[in-house]
Amino acid sequence: MFNSTTNYDFPFPVIVQRTVFSNTQSLNLELGKFVEFIIKTKPDATNQNYIATESAKQVDCNILVDYYNKEKCITTLMDKIINPEVKKWTNKHFNSLLNREIVNPLYHMTSWATLYDPGSWQTPHIHREKMFTGVYYFKMNDDTSNVDHQSPDVRSEGSLVIQNPHPQSCQPLLGGWQTHKEYLPVEGELIIMPSWVSHFPKPFKKGTRGVIVFDGAFLGEQNG
Ligand SMILES: [Fe+2]
Repeated sequence: MFNSTTNYDFPFPVIVQRTVFSNTQSLNLELGKFVEFIIKTKPDATNQNYIATESAKQVDCNILVDYYNKEKCITTLMDKIINPEVKKWTNKHFNSLLNREIVNPLYHMTSWATLYDPGSWQTPHIHREKMFTGVYYFKMNDDTSNVDHQSPDVRSEGSLVIQNPHPQSCQPLLGGWQTHKEYLPVEGELIIMPSWVSHFPKPFKKGTRGVIVFDGAFLGEQNG
């Protein structure tokens, strides 16, 4: 149904998996409508303590879990996009740690949806006690390369910034000379990275950005 292309990047070094899915226009529109609907009907989560989201609208429900097998667009997103990509990322992760795959990893997934308006963003944060964090972009903001007076590698509005966890490192090959890395996603892209890496989305001037975000806490390996 969807074709996809995956690229890996290993800044600092952490595993950043970027997969762009084609033919997602109608799915993205359905997700946008559904997220707008639940944001109108459910409590807003952004007025709670310690949430990093600044000014954006974030619905207080576990969207991927609560609506799986109930809303077609969420079921399709999980079955065709998120679950296969989580499997790929966790394979890379456990291979890098253990030099083997964990065939049936068990994890507890938490998820939410956020709509960003111009000027809204998140403060740098990690997802505590989780293994991986993923962001699916069903809508990207307009004018993504519009930041003046910045060096060329940090000019993209609305990009995802990942911060170097050891900026004092003197090991250039581990990313010691870079303070951060930016990724400018496209609509239909899913980015998965480790939850312990500090990250934040940059603000933008025009349009709306819509994301479905999830993270997974590792519970162990399923036997058999
Ligand atoms: Fe985050």
